[in-house]
Amino acid sequence: MFKLDIPSRPELFDFHGVSMTHHYTDNWENLQNFQARPDDVLIAAYPRSGTTWLCCILDLLYFGEMSPERQTSIPIFKRVQLLEGTFTLREGPGGTPHVLRGTDTLEKLPTSPRLIKTHLPVQFIPKSFWEQNCRIIYSTRNSKDNVVSYFHFECMTVIHPEPGDWSSYLQRFMEGKMLFGPWYNHVNGWWKKKQSPSNIHYVFYEDLVEDTGREIDKLCSFLGLSLSAEGKERILNRVQFDVMKSDNMVNHTILREMDFNISSFIRKGKVGDWKNHFTVAQNEEFEEDYKKKMKEDMLQFRSEI
Ligand code: A3P
Repeated sequence: MFKLDIPSRPELFDFHGVSMTHHYTDNWENLQNFQARPDDVLIAAYPRSGTTWLCCILDLLYFGEMSPERQTSIPIFKRVQLLEGTFTLREGPGGTPHVLRGTDTLEKLPTSPRLIKTHLPVQFIPKSFWEQNCRIIYSTRNSKDNVVSYFHFECMTVIHPEPGDWSSYLQRFMEGKMLFGPWYNHVNGWWKKKQSPSNIHYVFYEDLVEDTGREIDKLCSFLGLSLSAEGKERILNRVQFDVMKSDNMVNHTILREMDFNISSFIRKGKVGDWKNHFTVAQNEEFEEDYKKKMKEDMLQFRSEI
């Protein structure tokens, strides 16, 4: 069990125009000066858009054959480290606090390549990732399923700010006052960056659900990896929804800061769950607002498949 020192839910505050909490800004200077290596692989995503799924796939692609015990003994959040996180860990009641910073852990990481996760909007990414032309995979998902999943997640974890009730949460999502900023700016900002010379591959959650094998093939071609048919089958088996949901190294049940009586980290794994949450009126208002914010017709999402 991991026990972080989080006395209460953190507050959101405006940070360079983006709503953030101190867990992700406390280490800002080190973060901005972080030295990326040319073979680092960065997995970027707005929270709750399939990041963990992608992290598992990438971890298996790079380390599945070489060190299978890695998957059974190391939690996914340690195999793929969050770049911007700063948390205090207390070992035992009254134990000495120990500050864990994503940047420190990554600097000491012996594996190559380093698989690095981030939820930061594109403008906050340390410049060394661009200078080193690192490969970046951006995971994204339709806004309606994303907000539903984010709501359930924030209800279950004290690591994030208080979510409030569903209808006020949806309003706040539309206003963009969410941890890591507005979904709209996040997905569009990264998409714009992809249009400039960069090394970014977009993965849509809906595509992963529709045909995981096809998306793994695309990932391999982006990453310059070759994968045997058996290797691919092994990965596909490992990353099935039910398998991941019951895998303690992936489902986050070892984190005490999440209340699994409220929800699950690996929750439903469906496209279109928003239909079980949005009222007709909420859907109309959301769609209207969406059209205003997502004028760039190049980025298309599917909210059902
Ligand atoms: P739901 O809450 O809609 O179920 P992240 O890892 O970015 O926090 O994203 C979490 C979302 O990805 C959750 O969505 C979770 O259930 C879903 N997910 C995780 N692993 C999955 C898998 N193997 N297949 C389908 N969905 C998965």
